[in-house]
Amino acid sequence: MSDSLAQAVQADFQQRYSYAPLLVRAPGRVNLIGEHTDYNAGFVLPAAVDKEMVFAVGLNGGEQIRLFAHDLNESLELPNAADISPTETHWANYLLGVAAQFQLRGVAVPGFDCVLAGTVPMGAGMSSSAAVECGLAYALNELLKTGFEKMDLARMAQLAEHTYAGVQCGLMDQFASVFGRAGQVVRLDCRSLDYQYFPFDTQACRIVLVNSGVKHSLASSEYNTRRKECERGVSVLQQHYPEITALRDATMEQLEAHRSELGGTVFRRCSYVVQENARVEAACRHLEAGDLAAFGKEMNASHAGLRDDYEVSCVELDVLAEAALAAPGVFGSRMMGGGFGGCTINLVAPDKVDAFIESVSAAYEKRFGRRPETYQTTIVDGVGAV
Ligand code: GLA
Repeated sequence: MSDSLAQAVQADFQQRYSYAPLLVRAPGRVNLIGEHTDYNAGFVLPAAVDKEMVFAVGLNGGEQIRLFAHDLNESLELPNAADISPTETHWANYLLGVAAQFQLRGVAVPGFDCVLAGTVPMGAGMSSSAAVECGLAYALNELLKTGFEKMDLARMAQLAEHTYAGVQCGLMDQFASVFGRAGQVVRLDCRSLDYQYFPFDTQACRIVLVNSGVKHSLASSEYNTRRKECERGVSVLQQHYPEITALRDATMEQLEAHRSELGGTVFRRCSYVVQENARVEAACRHLEAGDLAAFGKEMNASHAGLRDDYEVSCVELDVLAEAALAAPGVFGSRMMGGGFGGCTINLVAPDKVDAFIESVSAAYEKRFGRRPETYQTTIVDGVGAV
């Protein structure tokens, strides 16, 4: 986090509300592999990155909630913290949804003030919304001394997204923003919630994100549709294999055996998920063995599955992923996050990064007439006080 941004947010808070706030930072995330597996009780491999949100938060001694989005120069005030519901102000809902989660757990949330700003690009698939949720969850937990565990905070942030943003997301983004660790990626088992850190040296292998610049308006409704299609698959399989309670438990053989009953679309959705789970496990073995080439192949296969079977890519992302494979120094490339836009994630040899960016940007420009934004990220710690 740039110190100057934190200072600006702090100064803004102090000037608006005339008392000293708690300063908190919460990172966005990348996900190396394991997409759309979290809500299927499967595996993901995210990391918190140095694109972050920063918050100044304080209890104002009254009943009001006062929110100010520094980057947008927009504010929202609510008369009574005890009486909140989703508003028309999109960015504020992520914060209000978190406050509502404290209340649902029996915490009387008093009036508070919050100024936020950040460097997580919006709609880029880097979980700016999870960073917003997790930052406020952390801040309120500190200020109200509620003592919630880190996993509770991640789940409260996830439920805020469900209830106040209408996206039935899994736990990955909020988990990564809370549990991230500098220099490590973390594999989460989304069923048991066990997790394991793996060292990832971004000096030895760069993580380069290329932003398609596409913010697909269908993203959240299609996301919820995918979730339903997976649930449909589980309910069909369950009639034959009662032990299957999530796609995590299914095999390709079982899917093949009931292909016609599942129907073409649900079959393809389910087979993507089953294969992606296997890819995460294989990728972690490659990472431990230091085999980046094999790791990258899993990423490429992940992209193909997301494009052809899960159908959450878009032509801009496909062009970027394809251009990456032709570019110098690339281990692997795929779309990242929920899909329908946002970034590709690319693992690139450090001495080839400039050539990679030039090559992919040129291919994108040739096709779409503009150059994409790119970000080289490093892996940082999860949410915390500044
Ligand atoms: C979004 C959701 C996550 C996850 C990804 C896809 O980022 O918030 O829970 O499902 O999409 O892997």
